[in-house]
Amino acid sequence: MPERPIRVLNVVGARPNFMKIAPVMRALGAREGAQAVLVHTGQHYDERMSHLFFEQLAIPRPDVNLEVGSASHAVQTAAIMQRFEPVVAEQEPDVVVVVGDVNSTIACALVAAKLHVPVAHVEAGLRSFDRRMPEEINRRLTDAISDFLFVTEPSGLSNLKAEGAAEEKVHFVGNVMIDTLLANLEKARASRVLEDLGLQPRAYAAMTLHRPSNVDDGETFASLFGAIREIARDLPVVFPAHPRTRKNMEAFGYFEGDRLGGVRLVEPLGYLDFLRLMAEARLVLTDSGGIQEETTILKVPCLTLRESTERPVTVDVGCNQVVGRDPERILAAYRRVMAEDDFTCPAPEKWDGHAAERIADVLLERLGG
Ligand code: UD1
Repeated sequence: MPERPIRVLNVVGARPNFMKIAPVMRALGAREGAQAVLVHTGQHYDERMSHLFFEQLAIPRPDVNLEVGSASHAVQTAAIMQRFEPVVAEQEPDVVVVVGDVNSTIACALVAAKLHVPVAHVEAGLRSFDRRMPEEINRRLTDAISDFLFVTEPSGLSNLKAEGAAEEKVHFVGNVMIDTLLANLEKARASRVLEDLGLQPRAYAAMTLHRPSNVDDGETFASLFGAIREIARDLPVVFPAHPRTRKNMEAFGYFEGDRLGGVRLVEPLGYLDFLRLMAEARLVLTDSGGIQEETTILKVPCLTLRESTERPVTVDVGCNQVVGRDPERILAAYRRVMAEDDFTCPAPEKWDGHAAERIADVLLERLGG
């Protein structure tokens, strides 16, 4: 054994990061050779976007909160970097673990790499090949400066290979988001969200929308939302709206008159409520990345309201259809899903609940903990 355990500095910032870091913190916490430290950048800060997830997923209180809050991309990324640099200097970690593709991911990876601290990227190699998505820029840059590339699906391996990533950096470990889903599914079944909303299992659709490309432009949003209103005439659509989306909808005048149609707008839900809402839905409509993966394990048909996906395995196994924003295409896909009774699909390789343990194994072996 070395003189001290390896110190792993884990970073979270935005909502989808929390379910990814929870199993990593747990796996590291179970190893004698590792000491896990947690930094929250504060990119997301609302109770329902942040704290609730810590509570429900039993994530330890962050050792440090950088409290950056919302701002433009440049201002937010710069603020995270400025505040994260002294933390790395003080903590002297052996590795910095970043997850996903949000601004906090690239900001902290860049700081660590410049201080010569190895960077581990969880969820490496995913590519939408659409550089208009801020996440695509964040992913590519983070992968380019990472020393450990932890991959969730086969496309990640081929993308990294095509970009010339050194083979010894790449580890196909599976999906930490699915670790969290499998660990919490039983608990989620006890959620009262369906009863509270007056919904019957398999008799509603759940929807999320928050991509700037879908919700920031009034005309684009109106066309997309028109298709959703059409679906809501047939099947209740529950829509926990992200703060970005809610603010835009307010500005576009959706809370006046009957512009919501039958769509049921609700506050963002906690992890367990949303998991049950997805698990018992007839179908899910989304532009999120993680939800494409979660529905695949829950075996609930997913219509992805985007032109591309960086998670093609969810399409390959037959759970996800990338239907874009054209109302006709969305409605045609909806009708196809509704016509199919006994939907199922196989789980992607290594989405088995043990990805974080594989990550801990690699870090301890390579860093000598
Ligand atoms: C961010 C991520 C996106 C991820 C999403 C999940 C980037 C570039 N984008 O997008 O990849 O899918 O999180 O939610 O990192 N706001 C609040 N309360 C909060 C957080 C945000 O009201 O707790 C509002 C603010 O008005 C803010 C806006 O939402 O300006 C957008 O937040 P931001 O973190 O910039 O981007 P997201 O759209 O949340």
